[in-house]
Amino acid sequence: MPDFGGYPEAHALPFTDEVRRKTDHLYPKIARFIPEIEWRVHAPYIAAINDLKREKNAVILAHNYMTPEIFNCVGDFSGDSLQLAKEAAKTDADVIVQAGVHFMAETSKILCPEKTVLIPDMRAGCSLAASITGADVRLLKQKYPGAPVVTYVNTTADVKAETDICCTSSNAVEVVEHAAKEWGSDTVIFLPDQYLARNVAAATDVKIITWAGACEVHERFTAEDIREIREGNPGVIVLAHPECPPDVIAEADFAGSTSGLSNYVKENQPQNVVLLTECSMSDNVAAENPDVHFMRPCNLCPHMKRITLPKILRALQTMEHKVEIDPDVIARARAAIERMIALPLKRQSMYNHTRAPEVAAVESRV
Ligand code: 13P
Ligand code: SF4
Repeated sequence: MPDFGGYPEAHALPFTDEVRRKTDHLYPKIARFIPEIEWRVHAPYIAAINDLKREKNAVILAHNYMTPEIFNCVGDFSGDSLQLAKEAAKTDADVIVQAGVHFMAETSKILCPEKTVLIPDMRAGCSLAASITGADVRLLKQKYPGAPVVTYVNTTADVKAETDICCTSSNAVEVVEHAAKEWGSDTVIFLPDQYLARNVAAATDVKIITWAGACEVHERFTAEDIREIREGNPGVIVLAHPECPPDVIAEADFAGSTSGLSNYVKENQPQNVVLLTECSMSDNVAAENPDVHFMRPCNLCPHMKRITLPKILRALQTMEHKVEIDPDVIARARAAIERMIALPLKRQSMYNHTRAPEVAAVESRV
């Protein structure tokens, strides 16, 4: 059976005058990316989702990698992992629909255990979250006693429950330095992204033990890609996510979380820019910056792309799929996330490679 991304084969929802009235004001923002014929398929879903959100007191948290029709037309809050976690912590909605991947929905559930948290497709995973288990972390803690465990939010609730403090790509350097100081250790266990770990190591004196995990989207970019882009496009500004390998970050003009990259474009208005990250980012940032030209070499995240408008509508209609986590796991994981949220961070982590991107060890399951 072919997968139409959840859209019925002959789309069942008609583009009526009422749909037009409810959605016409939304189209101009995304008209550069979505032709009118395609908009007529999306618009009935957008109208139905926005009606149901009001009826059920629901909010949609949309990650920066969502496609433009989700990001701009049904998302109530958008941003990087840290921003979405903060929004989840303060919303007074009864229902949270996570337009993102499963670990993000788990983070929302951990911060709001009394709320209904829905993920429109349970298969929306993440190669980093899949790379490590809570049992792996327990073994690492035995091997390196006294070293605090910092885990990237791209992990399961079980892994967070074994963690001292979480981080995201927007605060990883500061969290590692804080953990070393707070736990009185010159070494930190930083899990599970070996590339983010090396990019953090290049910006701090703290010794880092990491794990052999990687993002299947960002590990595919190479320094050679950047050299080719620059050769063909003199003056182009190259921005990269710190899940990319260190030689990519060293060649880029700037590296930061998804929102860090978006803010860079907003503040600097480069003439010509390339974002080495997931493909939808460029569309979403371009919508906000009409004078900037975006080159489009990018990689798709197949997990993020599982989230579509029809699946979001179905989630709100059926209240499926609910994210459920053991209360004991929630309590332990929550402490690690709340320690991160409580840190007074003034700025995004800088990945400017002042040292060699070397870690003390890369561990893996034996
Ligand atoms: P951000 O925290 O930068 O949004 O990253 C999340 C992610 O999954 C990137 O691949
Ligand atoms: Fe995970 Fe990479 Fe997809 Fe982000 S882009 S959700 S890190 S697989």
